[in-house]
Amino acid sequence: MKKKTADNTVNVAVLVSGGGTNLQAIIDRRDAGLLPSCRLCAVISSKKGAYALERAEKAGIKGYTVDRKACAGQEEFEAKILSILNKSRAEVIVLAGFMNILSAEFVKQFPERIINVHPALIPSFCGKGFYGLRVHEEALKYGVKVTGATVHFVNEIPDGGRIIAQKAVKIREGDTPEKLQKRVMREAEWKILPAALEQVCSDILERGAQNG
Ligand code: GAR
Repeated sequence: MKKKTADNTVNVAVLVSGGGTNLQAIIDRRDAGLLPSCRLCAVISSKKGAYALERAEKAGIKGYTVDRKACAGQEEFEAKILSILNKSRAEVIVLAGFMNILSAEFVKQFPERIINVHPALIPSFCGKGFYGLRVHEEALKYGVKVTGATVHFVNEIPDGGRIIAQKAVKIREGDTPEKLQKRVMREAEWKILPAALEQVCSDILERGAQNG
């Protein structure tokens, strides 16, 4: 039995940097009633004017910008993010196309509470420098026949935390990085990210019920 908190949900903040199609997948699942353990409490963008912020606004989620370029350094950037997370009472953080690496000091404050979606099957094509289209360019260059997406917990090693979910996607003849990126998103990322998020939040509620 789940613990009955005020509304029996976990507060989730989503960190983005761009288009926000993964954020949209989460919003769509919520709207379909398929994220019963989650409450989307904030969207934080590291880039000014990111389209993800419009998606947040349309969905009635409070949006914030912490412009990485306008910050003096990583410390200021993370301090600003932390202050929004605290204000929003975020309990789980989703990195959904967030194109920044968080420091070990930041990550250590949220053990197994930060999840990331990566557009490849970890441990392939991951780690520092592997993000966005570059991941798909490298997969095609290497000549792999199968790629995919991974959702994992974030720890101090880039793309190194415990894996929660993976889904494979076949490479097709004539694939370009752009075509492959879209297919990996459609067939893998947009499915496994919302599902993993619900799993993580319902596990937190379940543990709360056991301990309380
Ligand atoms: C997604 O493919 C996501 O997996 C990737 O960037 C894209 C963002 O798209 N993230 C990384 O490469 C992080 N290492 P979105 O803004 O439309 O969700």
